[in-house]
Amino acid sequence: MSTRKGGGSKAAGSSSGSGPGKGAGSIRRQGGVRHMNVRLKTATGRTSSSQRWLERQLNDPYVAAAKRDGWRSRAAFKLIEIDDKHHVLKPGQRVVDLGAAPGGWSQVAAKRTKSEEGKGQVVAIDYLEFDPIAGVEIVHQDFMDNSAPARLKALLRDGGADVVLSDMAAPTTGHASTDHLRIMALAEAALAFAVEVLQPGGAFLCKVFQGGSEHQLLTELKQRFKIVRHVKPPASRSDSAELYVLATGFKG
Ligand SMILES: C[S@@+](CC[C@H](N)C(=O)[O-])C[C@H]1O[C@@H](n2cnc3c(N)ncnc32)[C@H](O)[C@@H]1O
Repeated sequence: MSTRKGGGSKAAGSSSGSGPGKGAGSIRRQGGVRHMNVRLKTATGRTSSSQRWLERQLNDPYVAAAKRDGWRSRAAFKLIEIDDKHHVLKPGQRVVDLGAAPGGWSQVAAKRTKSEEGKGQVVAIDYLEFDPIAGVEIVHQDFMDNSAPARLKALLRDGGADVVLSDMAAPTTGHASTDHLRIMALAEAALAFAVEVLQPGGAFLCKVFQGGSEHQLLTELKQRFKIVRHVKPPASRSDSAELYVLATGFKG
């Protein structure tokens, strides 16, 4: 495990660009969605699911826009769209990004808090290594390790945060209820950490899955935050069960 502002790279999808070329804005404002229809010939050795994945990537306007604008991942647009609508990120804030690789959300957070300019602070964690990002302190560790929360807290200025983001997701097994339980365990750990570090008025944005045992999480969120809402940004694929919970106004 390591904490660094520099270092190696390894998360899938990571681009080598040092930062997005254009200011953060929705994909529509940044040149529009260009629908493509690339079809691939079946290659020897490629399974039909990897063929489908590749075709979807090649035809995905968000993938193209992320590449064009220097975002590390298409996921960056999910945070951009949520933040454009709900105004979570502000200059000078301290932000923790849980499950950050390859770094799209951290890039957005660094831009919007101005941590790149030394105003805010972004601390990111993932067990996958990824390329350094200006204004982001990266912890390379499993967030579920007992020592990880304290390590993040020690890095935060004054030990607190204004926003906790979690896009953590374990690799899917294909077994819906197992995947759901795993993502909910990550969400619950993220919430426990958020409750420990957030300042009054702080915000928590966390990936969850639609359906099933979210009741306990929602009950706790409603006790701890003034406003709790589910958000599904346009960049989150409509055929995916992925959903985000956005809780604002931490009661402290
Ligand atoms: C959907 S990706 C995050 C994408 C990221 N928000 C972006 O914009 O580039 C989910 C990430 O969560 C990470 N992750 C899952 N479980 C984790 C854990 N227990 N500790 C740290 N990272 C974890 C995975 O390694 C993966 O990189």
